[in-house]
Amino acid sequence: MPDTTRRRPLGHLVRRILPLAGLTLLVSACSLVQIDNPQNAWDPRGPIAERLDGLFWMVFWIAVGVFVVVQGAILFAVVKFRDRPGRAMPKQVHGNAKLEITWTLIPALILAAVAVPTVRGVFDLTRCDSGALKVNITGHQWWFEYDYPDYGITTANVMVIPVDTPVCASMTSEDVIHSFWVPALNGKRYLIPGQTTVLPLEASEPGEYWAQCGEFCGLSHALMRARVVALPPEEFDAWVADQQTYPAEPEPGTPAFEGLQIFQQRGCAACHGVNYGPDSEFTNLIAPEAFNGPDLTKFATRDVFAGAYLPRDGETRKEALAAWLANPPDVKPGSFMPNLGLTQEEIDKLIEWLETLK
Ligand code: CUA
Repeated sequence: MPDTTRRRPLGHLVRRILPLAGLTLLVSACSLVQIDNPQNAWDPRGPIAERLDGLFWMVFWIAVGVFVVVQGAILFAVVKFRDRPGRAMPKQVHGNAKLEITWTLIPALILAAVAVPTVRGVFDLTRCDSGALKVNITGHQWWFEYDYPDYGITTANVMVIPVDTPVCASMTSEDVIHSFWVPALNGKRYLIPGQTTVLPLEASEPGEYWAQCGEFCGLSHALMRARVVALPPEEFDAWVADQQTYPAEPEPGTPAFEGLQIFQQRGCAACHGVNYGPDSEFTNLIAPEAFNGPDLTKFATRDVFAGAYLPRDGETRKEALAAWLANPPDVKPGSFMPNLGLTQEEIDKLIEWLETLK
C-alpha cells in the first residue's frame, strides 16, 4: 500500500500556494501598465476618451462597493455563525421573501444605473459632429491608409489631425476585418469590407498617439500599427499645405534618379503610387487602384512606415529601409511586398530616392 501520509502535506502546500502564485502573477502584470506606455488605455488625451475613462471608473467603483458589501456580508456570516462546540444551529433564512426581493431588486437597480450612461455613451461615442474634419480610413493587410477628402490628401500610417478639433473617421477595409484603436483618443471600432463605420476622434493636447489594429487580421496583425499626430491648428494648416505639394523630381544622373528608375523597372510602381503632379513626365507613376500599397508621394514626411512598425527602437529610418527593401516578408511576416532580390547598390539608390519624397 502506498504511503499517503507523507505525500498529503506536499499536495496541501501546493493547493495553498497555487492561488497565491496566481494572484502574484496577476498583480505583477498590472505593474506593466506604465505611465509612459504609448498604448495605455488609462491615459485619455481628449474629451471622447475622457468620457470613456469616466465610464470605466464609475463602473469600477460601483463594482468595488458591491465587492466590499458582498464579501463583508460573507465574512460576517462565516465568523459570526461559525460552528463551535455546544452551539445550536443558527436560524435558517431559506425562502425568506423579503430577503429574496431585496437582493434581486438592489442588483437590478445598480445595473439600470450603470446601463443609462453606458448605453448613452455607446451611441454618443460612435457619432460624429456634422462640422467635424473628415478623414477616410481604409484598412489593408497590414497598414492603415488615410485620405482627407476636403484637402485631396492621401497618406498612410501617420494620421495628422488638428488639436481641439472634432475629427470624423469614416472607415472601411480593402480585405479583411480590421479595427482602429487609438487608446488615448477613443475606443476601438471595426473596419469592415463593403461597409462604412464611423469613429469620432479628438485630441485636447498636441502629441503623437499610438494606434493599433484591434482585430486579428492575419500574420502581421500585431505589427499593424499607426500613429495619430495632433498638431496645433496653424501647424496642421502648414502640414496640409505641404502635403498638397508635389515632391521635387530628382536630377538625372544622381543616385536618387537611378533609384526612381529602379522603382519603375523592378515593378514597385505596380502597387505604390507616387504623384509628381500633372506637369511631370513621371505622372504615370500613379499606381493603379487595383492593388495598392501605401502612396509614397510624401513618404519622407512620415516618421514611420510598414504599418508604423518601422523603424524599430534604436534603428534609423535608413537602416530600417535597408532591411525592409532587402526582404520585406522577413521583417513583417506575410507582407504582400515581395522579396525582389534587390542588390545592395539598388537598395542604396532606392533609399536615396525615397528620401527625396517630401
Ligand atoms: Cu488589421 Cu489586425
